[in-house]
Formats: sequence, structure tokens, C-alpha cells
Amino acid sequence: MDKISRPIIALDFPKRSIAMEFLNKFPKEEKLFVKVGMELFYSEGQRLVEEIKEAGHDIFLDLKCHDIPNTVYSAMRVLGRLGVDLTTVHAAGGKEMMQAAKEGLLDGSGGKNLAKIIAITQLTSTSPEMVKNEQLISASLEESVRNYAKLAQSAGLDGIVCSAHEASDILAATSPEFLRVTPGIRLAGGDVGDQKRVMTPDQAAKNHASGIVVGRAITKAKDPIAAYNLVKQLWEEN
Ligand code: C5P
Repeated sequence: MDKISRPIIALDFPKRSIAMEFLNKFPKEEKLFVKVGMELFYSEGQRLVEEIKEAGHDIFLDLKCHDIPNTVYSAMRVLGRLGVDLTTVHAAGGKEMMQAAKEGLLDGSGGKNLAKIIAITQLTSTSPEMVKNEQLISASLEESVRNYAKLAQSAGLDGIVCSAHEASDILAATSPEFLRVTPGIRLAGGDVGDQKRVMTPDQAAKNHASGIVVGRAITKAKDPIAAYNLVKQLWEEN
């Protein structure tokens, strides 16, 4: 199984100075894998991504692109040039859009194919009622997630974002190397916050997650370095 060896830290901060202040707490030689989402990217743009890359960290740029194939191709080409390591698109954009995304990323990186691209299936904020009444999909939410995962795989994507609870189900529907990147991770006894279904890093590993995204359990910890090291240890050992 392809396992993303380091936990991915969600840099859910509103601006550069706070994100850098957080990163500067770590020893210089500690190379991290961080997630930059829409808020931070829309406020700080490419320069911040370049700065984080220059510091030697890997970047998951989570922009959840969803548009016509041609537009997504062009957007992904920009991200390929930027040298991001992992990024996202919505599977609901369709197979052709996902293929275009992959191609754009590859072309942008000059054919080096270093970046991985994973799909959002159904957002975790989407309820079974919304699938039925708003999307008019007659299949269950779980079936829809499985369907989108298989569609993403057939489009040549590298994996999906899913809850750690769904990871073993997705593994059964796809293949071991198809990445299952899971947010909603907490340390035992930690504050659950707005996440409804959480898992600890070791539980996620045992449930066949191939990567974990951890935000507040690290960023809001009294000692973020100690929290990161504990998450890393629990993730690595299992
Ligand atoms: O602070 P916390 O660990 O809950 O942060 C999780 C990160 O993963 C956030 O950046 C959040 O936006 C993201 N995420 C999520 N659930 C999803 C998809 C992404 O929590 N289904």
C-alpha cells in the first residue's frame, strides 16, 4: 500500500504571517507536509506556496476545482508549474474533467508527473437527504461515494479524500495504491470541534487510510510540536 508517511498538517490560517509563525516553531530541518486551503491561498496566492516550498516542505494545495474540462486543464497547468505535491478536484465534474486535470498538472510540471491529484466525492457536509432531495440521486450516499471513487480511478486520478471510516470500503471498491486521504483526525481525548465522525491517527491507519490530514489537533495544541510528533508516531507505527 502506498502510504503518505508524514501526517499532512492543515494550515487553516487566514494569513501568511500566522502560517509562517506556526511553521517557524518547527526545527529548520523538519520537513513537513502541509495543506493550504482556499482561504489562505485566496488571500496570499502563489507567493506563499513558493515560500513554503523554498523552506523544503511539501504542499497539498486543496482548491477543489470543479469547472469545464478546458478551464480545469488550464488551472491545473498553473499548479503543475507551481510545483505542488498534491491537489484536489471534484469528482462531480466528471471523468473528462478529471482526465483534463491530470493532464494539466502533468503538462505544467514539464511532464515530470510529480504531483498527485485526488478527488472529492461527496462533501462530508452533504447528508443522505441532500443526495436524495437536492441532487436527485436515487443511490445511497455511500453508493454515490463509491461510484465517484471508481470514476476518479478510471480517470487516472491518484485517490480520493474520504473519512477514515470509509477508507476500508473504498479500498475494497478500488485498489491498494489508490490513495485514501482522510481528514477528521483527533488525538484520544482531544476536542472534536465541528467534526462529527473522528478517528485517532492509529485507528485511521488500521482502517486503511493512506494519508491523514490533521488541523486543529496540532495547530491549536498547547505544544504543537509535541502534538505533531505524537500524531506522527501513532500514524507511523500502525
Ligand atoms: O482541524 P481539522 O483537523 O478538523 O481540519 C481538517 C482539515 O481537513 C480542514 O482543513 C478541513 O477543511 C479539511 N476537510 C475536512 N473534511 C473533509 C474535507 C476536508 O475536515 N471532508
